[in-house]
Amino acid sequence: MLKCENISKIYNDNSWFSKKESIKVLENISFNLSSGRSMGFAGRNGAGKSTLMRIILGLEKPTTGTVSFMDKNIHNLKYNELKNIYKDMQVVFQDPLSSMNPAYTVYDIIKEPVENYYNYKQNEIKELVSSLLADVKLDNNKMYKNIMQLSGGEQQRVAIARALAVKPKLLILDEALSSLDMIIQAEIIHLLDDLKKQYNLFYLVISHDIRIILKLCDDIMFLENGKIKGMHSIENGINKDDEVFNNMLLV
Ligand SMILES: Nc1ncnc2c1ncn2[C@@H]1O[C@H](COP(=O)(O)OP(=O)(O)OP(=O)(O)O)[C@@H](O)[C@H]1O
Ligand SMILES: [Mg+2]
Repeated sequence: MLKCENISKIYNDNSWFSKKESIKVLENISFNLSSGRSMGFAGRNGAGKSTLMRIILGLEKPTTGTVSFMDKNIHNLKYNELKNIYKDMQVVFQDPLSSMNPAYTVYDIIKEPVENYYNYKQNEIKELVSSLLADVKLDNNKMYKNIMQLSGGEQQRVAIARALAVKPKLLILDEALSSLDMIIQAEIIHLLDDLKKQYNLFYLVISHDIRIILKLCDDIMFLENGKIKGMHSIENGINKDDEVFNNMLLV
């Protein structure tokens, strides 16, 4: 379903006050994500995880290599084709407010993709928003609350509901739980695990917290300084003697 081949990314620092410098952020990243399997990218701050995610989403071009999603090269698509891809591939970021209008209500936020992709009547949209709120375990009375009146965990549930509104196949979570406290994190992990079955979803989870990946994913890929340091299947058990794995637990 998702195929990354030889992805490299070099940033050129062209600012006038520094010497012309190239920074290699990703080097020869290749992997496949088959339908139904969830994968986690683990790695320390600066390992290149978010850069790889932006490249997968088509928000940035790789310096070399290709990304194909459902056999389409993401970086060769026109706006409308990319819009179609985003129906199948959605993302939830660490800071929900970074992608939400602070003047909007919960209803406004969730209905946006619905109106973008479907031709629903107002009462159908309201019904859908209501059922999405139930799916992410948010009380219906939150529907007309301003997003700023919600807690961080509730805002993240709204972000998940908005992503699910178009019934994607792949949901990318980039540090989506990192700013939440442990109890709320545990609740949302549990929720995401349920939604995976309910929506027939699979995840690409980006996190420096390996425990989240172990709970939600089938495979884990370790990134270090932009290179793949190891790839493991979680269901077969991770070799606890693995050096990279043990280093990760220390993070
Ligand atoms: N636009 C850019 N120009 C130059 N360097 C960049 C740019 N974007 C990212 N980098 C560099 O690329 C490296 C990888 O960054 P990236 O954000 O992908 O890491 P990350 O693994 O997501 O880290 P974190 O866990 O902190 O989110 C960092 O050294 C960063 O400074
Ligand atoms: Mg990041």
